[in-house]
Amino acid sequence: MSEIKYLPGKEPHPRETRSVFKNVDREGWDQSIETYIADGGYEMQKKAYKMTPDEIREEVKTAGLRGRGGAGFPAGVKWGFLPPNNEKPVYLICNADESEPGTFKDRYIIHQDPHQLIEGMAISCFSVGAHLAYIYIREEFPEGAQILEKAIEEAHAKGFLGKDILGTGFDLEIYVHRGAGAYICGEETGLIESLEGKRPYPRIKPPYFPAAMGLYLCPTIVNNVETLCHVKHIMQMGGEEWSKTGKPNNTGTRILCVSGDVVNPGYFEVQVGHVTMGELINDMCGGLKDGRKLKAVIPGGSSAKVLRADETFKIGKGDDEKEIDIWDIPMDFDTLAACGSMAGSGGVIVIDDSRSISWVLNNINNFYAHESCGQCTPCREGSLWMKKITDRVVKGQASPDDIDTLDAVARNIDGRTICAFGEASSWPTESFIDKFKDELVADTSEDYEGVAVNAERELAAAGLK
Ligand SMILES: Cc1cc2nc3c(=O)[nH]c(=O)nc-3n(C[C@H](O)[C@H](O)[C@H](O)COP(=O)(O)O)c2cc1C
Ligand code: SF4
Repeated sequence: MSEIKYLPGKEPHPRETRSVFKNVDREGWDQSIETYIADGGYEMQKKAYKMTPDEIREEVKTAGLRGRGGAGFPAGVKWGFLPPNNEKPVYLICNADESEPGTFKDRYIIHQDPHQLIEGMAISCFSVGAHLAYIYIREEFPEGAQILEKAIEEAHAKGFLGKDILGTGFDLEIYVHRGAGAYICGEETGLIESLEGKRPYPRIKPPYFPAAMGLYLCPTIVNNVETLCHVKHIMQMGGEEWSKTGKPNNTGTRILCVSGDVVNPGYFEVQVGHVTMGELINDMCGGLKDGRKLKAVIPGGSSAKVLRADETFKIGKGDDEKEIDIWDIPMDFDTLAACGSMAGSGGVIVIDDSRSISWVLNNINNFYAHESCGQCTPCREGSLWMKKITDRVVKGQASPDDIDTLDAVARNIDGRTICAFGEASSWPTESFIDKFKDELVADTSEDYEGVAVNAERELAAAGLK
């Protein structure tokens, strides 16, 4: 295909560097394998299959590709954790659960460019020695699942999947597996249990690190959709060149999904760390709605700690140390971590000064109380208690002491659970209290002495007691 043009009104912002999203909203583009091949599709699979599996992994390592699913762990390093001299089958799982609130990127890749994902997976499977791979896609994406099924059939018919691919003797099958729509199925070990046909109870790590003991207790690599797509582009550019995009230790491009109180919410693929929070919100998203002021940002999906609009952050080390405000935060893994939050899944949630902090936190707590798998007591009980307390705060039925109780509940979940859902559910509460305690307390009432006392009073006032 020739020159790249985008659908009217869907053109990428000039600050974007489109790589994984190159074909999203592209004029004349469709999901067929013919269109993909006409654009150079599957050439990187051919190139990779002439290399050795270790050479591919080294390219991915050199590139410094960090996982785009949430934790930001380097993909090449993860692949290197597969046990040497292993005699069991190795599996690769593409995590297409996309369950973190505020994140909406993987679904567009699947809907508009499914062959890019299949090519990325085919290269990755060859490198890690997996002959069987799964795409675990959440229930809420039925169309995405169908699109992937069709793309897999097409790739099969053209010999990019199946037996003796491209005459290399390498066999690979990819299956689409639909989840039932639970946040915890995005957590890799919960996902694996679900794929095995069980309730998605996350497994404890150690010992159940998937690379050592994953699907059917065999070595398994779990990677996010976007991560696996980047592998194709690393093959195209070479690991060294790819590592020069983005920032050191924060390489490549990544897709940021912006939602909340901005004029133009949406997805933007940018070089990691090349855009600041201010440039993202003001230039790329058209600023805040209705002339409102920024109150807070949750920068990496709902489980990331909130950043307050008027706080300052110390970043850099030694001579490079400096203090910056929220607008100047470069959107990369390391800086967001230094600011006390995380880049997570790339879901940037913008909160303006019209929002009640109690309402926002309660909204988040409702989600986590609903999604806890219930295996660990601190998470099962604590997520519900947090929701119950913030339910009362928004109804004006909480006492100031309840905020301290809320804080204690959150801090007794964090670090005491089987999986990272414990942190995901407690960090919002911890950080909202750290940053906005005054506002939360202001929504409580000194007169309020607790549910039981007030219920008694109400019954008495109604003449029922
Ligand atoms: C509660 C929870 C939910 C998660 N949801 C997702 C998800 O929807 N998609 C995803 O790719 N990773 C998700 N993750 C991260 C995965 O466990 C895993 O780290 C990731 O799929 C690895 O891929 P990556 O290294 O390419 O990022 C979640 C983690 C936790 C703790
Ligand atoms: S932390 Fe929560 S979601 Fe994770 S295993 Fe325990 S109960 Fe389940």
